[in-house]
Amino acid sequence: MAATNQADLPYRMRRLRKTPALRDLVRETHLSVKDLIYPIFTEENLDERVEISSMPGVYRETEKSLATRVKEAADLGIPAVILFGVSHHKDENGSDSFKATGLFARMIKIAKEAAPDISVIADVCFCEYTDHGHCGPIAEDGDVDNDATLINIGKQAVNAAKAGADIIAPSGMMDGTVAAIRAALDEAGFTEIPIMAYAAKFASTYYGPFRDAAGCALGKYDHVAKDRKTYQMDPANAREALREVELDIAEGADMVMVKPGLAYLDILAKTKDSFSLPTFSYHVSGEYAMLKAAAEKGWLEYEAVMMETLLSFKRAGADGILTYTALDAARILRNG
Ligand code: PBG
Ligand code: ZN
Repeated sequence: MAATNQADLPYRMRRLRKTPALRDLVRETHLSVKDLIYPIFTEENLDERVEISSMPGVYRETEKSLATRVKEAADLGIPAVILFGVSHHKDENGSDSFKATGLFARMIKIAKEAAPDISVIADVCFCEYTDHGHCGPIAEDGDVDNDATLINIGKQAVNAAKAGADIIAPSGMMDGTVAAIRAALDEAGFTEIPIMAYAAKFASTYYGPFRDAAGCALGKYDHVAKDRKTYQMDPANAREALREVELDIAEGADMVMVKPGLAYLDILAKTKDSFSLPTFSYHVSGEYAMLKAAAEKGWLEYEAVMMETLLSFKRAGADGILTYTALDAARILRNG
């Protein structure tokens, strides 16, 4: 005797999975080229671009190849790039990033000229321009001086806007950053430039490959803190993350970001549900490295796992994704 009379089943979830067309019809989440933001590293005084060993397929671009890369992204229909500098002019304050002639400003100009219609996002922070690698100047006690950073970051943000940046994205996690940037931009007449705040950014070991790529590893000086745990968030804290997001919105953030990506999808979903601002997820360097490493070993299928991962960010509530896979994903999406 059959345990269940088939005809009596009140539901059959499999009905809508029967064909590709049916599955297409009921799909809840879609990934588009328009969801992608491509991060690019640019090193000054470099003759030829250099592949980053822990991030296969990602390069330290030269100032010339930066233009090529931005055009490539634009031609694929990617709506935005975010720029990171590899500086040869570092000091204790990261002052090269205030200068109209420094790498920080030059990269923005180059990107904007290469593809005027793409949005150029300036990652506004000091770790790429300080000799100690921290996200602001160091106080007597060896820790980052919050309020001194705020004075400097206003200058950096205005420098970015003058160079042509379309969006300012502060990634340093100092208290009061968004308010300081908004005030500085408004005072300089850049009232229309939006802020995408790295609102909930965790002190994550997943940033390891990025620090190789951007040349901003910590630990060079004995008296200076060896990690970023006094400003980036404790990975254990979800409620605190919502408070961080709330404060950034109160200070004037137009868009918010949660970072890293996969390991923090719960924070992403809660952020989107709680505030409904345009919300972004950063699929970070370590996540990219894991995927590439497994693929190189033949243990995972790169393209399929990549697309599933990007889709998961959308499903969790992301309006867009910062990802080193952007060019690869865009090619797949365009070719159907
Ligand atoms: C710098 C910055 C970092 C990342 C983006 N901006 C590194 C850090 O905070 O140490 C990480 C990006 C990645 O890992 O892909 N403030
Ligand atoms: Zn930083």
